[in-house]
Amino acid sequence: MCGIVGYVGRRTAGPLLVEGLRKLEYRGYDSYGVATLHRSVSVLKKSGRIPPQADLGKGLKGKIGIGHTRWATHGEPTDRNAHPHTDCTGRIAVVHNGIIENYAKLREELEGRGHRFLSDTDTEVIAHLVEEAFQPGKLQEAVEEALRRLEGSYAILVIAQDEPGIVAARKSSPLVLGIGDGETLAASDMTPLLEYTERVIFLEDGDVATLREGGITICCNGTAVQRPVEQVTWCLDDVKKGGFPHFMLKEIHEQPQVFYETVRSVDAREMAAQMRASPWVTLIGCGTSYHAGLVAKYLLEAHAGIPVRVEMGSEFKYFAPPVRGLVVAITQSGETADTLMALQKARAHNCQTAAVTNVVGSSVTRMADHVLYTRAGPEIGVAATKSFTAQLAVFLQLASRLSDGALDGAIATAHLAMGDALRTELDGAVSLCTGAKDIFFVGRGPFYPVALEGALKMKEISYIHAEGYPAGELKHGPFALLTPETPVVAIALPGPTYGAMISNIKEMKARQAPVIGIGDAGDTELADVVDVFLPLPDGPEAVHILTATVILQRLAYHTADALSRDIDRPRNLAKSVTVE
Ligand code: F6R
Repeated sequence: MCGIVGYVGRRTAGPLLVEGLRKLEYRGYDSYGVATLHRSVSVLKKSGRIPPQADLGKGLKGKIGIGHTRWATHGEPTDRNAHPHTDCTGRIAVVHNGIIENYAKLREELEGRGHRFLSDTDTEVIAHLVEEAFQPGKLQEAVEEALRRLEGSYAILVIAQDEPGIVAARKSSPLVLGIGDGETLAASDMTPLLEYTERVIFLEDGDVATLREGGITICCNGTAVQRPVEQVTWCLDDVKKGGFPHFMLKEIHEQPQVFYETVRSVDAREMAAQMRASPWVTLIGCGTSYHAGLVAKYLLEAHAGIPVRVEMGSEFKYFAPPVRGLVVAITQSGETADTLMALQKARAHNCQTAAVTNVVGSSVTRMADHVLYTRAGPEIGVAATKSFTAQLAVFLQLASRLSDGALDGAIATAHLAMGDALRTELDGAVSLCTGAKDIFFVGRGPFYPVALEGALKMKEISYIHAEGYPAGELKHGPFALLTPETPVVAIALPGPTYGAMISNIKEMKARQAPVIGIGDAGDTELADVVDVFLPLPDGPEAVHILTATVILQRLAYHTADALSRDIDRPRNLAKSVTVE
């Protein structure tokens, strides 16, 4: 979703802000813009992607500025709807992430008082409200006054002519401030800040801050407050491609290390005790994080005997059945609006809450009673990969702790097997997929959610229609779609469902569907029955869950690459979905 960046200091702000916006591109956007302050406010804004030229933004003078990548919600992705937005005088400029729910009423009111609007956005009302309240030298007070009128969510940065800094504010939308040497910065996440500082402050809901060259002051409800300055452990290399053609491939390859670091660092004792004590455990998440919840359900039920319900954040918030016990939000970004609202609902029902997240200081960490962190580092590719296996690392640790270490052996060797799965030859499978319009992904037990995740990866980055199904369900309807042009990716691994999987695969073959079989390296029975066999390194089921995931991520990646898709920034998608 939209990205924000702001700078106050000794450097020329324009090019720095453009580079900052490039680092936020992975969040998804359809227009961009920058405003800087020299003697007056200058604005550069355009629809479309940021062009590659290095000197973009050089023409903008000044050492104070704000920038934005917009993912359209109110108004088309056009030049005039791109942020920053200005007031009637052009002296005040605003960038905004989030949604102003009462903007239509405010706009009508403001137009009634003579304000002229230049865009269709909800954001522009903020610029005009600040204009009405503005007195020279008192930008923060004017912003505070404007915020009192807003309903909805926002992270905003505001600059105004003759004001020596930026005013920043947040409510239900992330905003991080950076403290450098004679310079201060603001951004919607840490990635643009890492080049300049390791010292950051995560604003809390209701905070309004003023950033100046020499430091930052923060107020909440009109009272000065101190927020902790945190040391960032991510480094600049973490947000570079490191020789890989795409972030997604780099992130797929980081998984053995990420898994290893997550299982080593996570202390699952307290959450394990809560799960043991709670009569109900509910896991909530969206997209890939929901799939991690489905795998976690299997692990916790099969190994620890703990009954688990898994719900999508977007559905749970409208849930009628009773909400009780421990509710765990799974979210890489910690900012997904649907997941946060679901967690809020759990809190309203006096449930104990917990979160599994990748981002220190994210909104979910302030909302949940207890937090477990994955150690995936920044995930830049829009398609989640390493964050998924890191989430599985957390739940494997939990399930193992709850089952007297039953999974410790698997956990200790998984990173090595994941490394082997990075080398499996995929050419035959990729050429079957690149020619397809539809692909089914099937599995049973824990491999059903793995199949769902494989299908999600395939559809989001290759744009090929892909569906994940429990293998046994195909004949209850979807068989009608099987043709020689419809490949099926079937995960058939040793265990209680193996025989049923082989029968299902034979049924698919009888309908002439080409089958890509993912199985144990020595499985000649499976290799003989499928068209393309993708062997997984030998290992227990818990390891196979991870290695099959790696193979499916790579299958999606190489298929999308063969089709020349925009892999790190697939169309219509955003990395962090901060609206409902
Ligand atoms: C898919 C993907 C999305 C996210 C979903 C939740 O590759 O990335 O489905 O998993 O938007 O995001 P988080 O985990 O940040 O809550």
